[in-house]
Amino acid sequence: MAEDLSRISLAIPTDLLQGLDELTERRGIQKNRSEVIRDLIRDALVDETVADPDAEVMGTLTIVFNHHANDLQERLDEIQHAHFQEIVATTHVHADAHNCLEVIIMRGKSAQIQEIADRLLGTKGVRHGEFVITSIEETAQHEH
Ligand code: NI
Repeated sequence: MAEDLSRISLAIPTDLLQGLDELTERRGIQKNRSEVIRDLIRDALVDETVADPDAEVMGTLTIVFNHHANDLQERLDEIQHAHFQEIVATTHVHADAHNCLEVIIMRGKSAQIQEIADRLLGTKGVRHGEFVITSIEETAQHEH
């Protein structure tokens, strides 16, 4: 790795350290303790960035719905067309004979894309959904 690394030592309760080691093991052989700690710090920084309503962020919304529900697909498309500048891409999967799964990728100000996600999730007929929001800035700046 070309980046500058600082070495720190820290005091941590034994059971918490054990938890860290178990987490490290679950993440597989390509991650060691230090890398897992770095990931956790990035998680916290991303959370902080995303909490700022004006931060430039990206988000993926996954929704599941029954396309037979009256004009639901049309209503979902209408919301997406109204926000074509924030919605980067949409993938539609015909999950079975009745149900559809859509993944909607957005980019924009945190508060704004959160609001679009809430509108889509709040559309009558959407059965399940989850919105994941992330910040590229916070995680990418030291990865080259
Ligand atoms: Ni479908």
